[in-house]
Amino acid sequence: MSFSIERYKEESKKVDITGIAWDEVAAHSLSKGDLFSLHYMMDIENHVPLYLSHLLVTRACMDPILTAFLACWNYEELWHGENIGRLLNLYGIEFDTQDRIANVRANLGVQNSLSILTTMAGSWLLKNFSAVYLSIGAINELTTLTGYNALIRKSGHPVLKDLLSRIIKDERRHYAFYFNSAKEWLSGNERAQKLDRWMLDRVWVPVGQGVKTQEEVDALAIYLFDDEQGEEELLDLDAKIGKLPGLAGIKLMSRSLYAARERARRNPRWGQRLIENEEWAIKPPKKSPVGQLTGRRGVPQEAGTS
Ligand SMILES: [Fe+2]
Ligand SMILES: [Fe+2]
Repeated sequence: MSFSIERYKEESKKVDITGIAWDEVAAHSLSKGDLFSLHYMMDIENHVPLYLSHLLVTRACMDPILTAFLACWNYEELWHGENIGRLLNLYGIEFDTQDRIANVRANLGVQNSLSILTTMAGSWLLKNFSAVYLSIGAINELTTLTGYNALIRKSGHPVLKDLLSRIIKDERRHYAFYFNSAKEWLSGNERAQKLDRWMLDRVWVPVGQGVKTQEEVDALAIYLFDDEQGEEELLDLDAKIGKLPGLAGIKLMSRSLYAARERARRNPRWGQRLIENEEWAIKPPKKSPVGQLTGRRGVPQEAGTS
């Protein structure tokens, strides 16, 4: 798996949607589980700029190769979220993308600011912070593309398959960058390997957790991966990450699937109730109206009108 930053900079672009049969989106049905997954995925794709805000204050961003990658990566991820939103709208689910994104962010609350501060401080205190961040990047990108493949399989929706297959090509490039960069950092660096393993075993959470609740994360994991093939795919994902120096035998996504299963065993309605109740609408925050956070207090007036 090779990756060239120069080539990536030259070739990075928004996902090509030419020829996607958008007018056929509503002609094929999506289950509640598919819709739940798509809302989750869209929200996490749209969360990338805030995730990026956490990274740009860290020691890792002293590296110009990393910042060049992030500049392109952020733009590509934007179009993943936009196009998933477009598909949902065309399917007949009405929401305003900007309102939804603003509400997700407003609901993060003060926790988000605290998290930026701790990430920043941690990165400057820990010399090998980059190894951890790059490994997590690799896991997140690989999880994302594995999730998209699982959703293609579960939904059997031809237009969704076409869109996600194109997005997956971007995710593969992102994964290649993070994996190769993490490998470079970890190779021959025993201290970095120890820190990485320790952090992943104790602090790592699946992509989206924090923006989404534990139950939402579990609902997605159970819907997409709670069958023989799904479990195999997660074990395979862990095996790929286990090829990074110092991470042999690590269990991450499979461990989180087993934990989700255990919570669902103790409470049989766990996760599934969110899907059945169609709880993918984002509630507006109680204390911080979107207008106050964004400065946008309504539909913009056209020039010359009042
Ligand atoms: Fe993406
Ligand atoms: Fe990605």
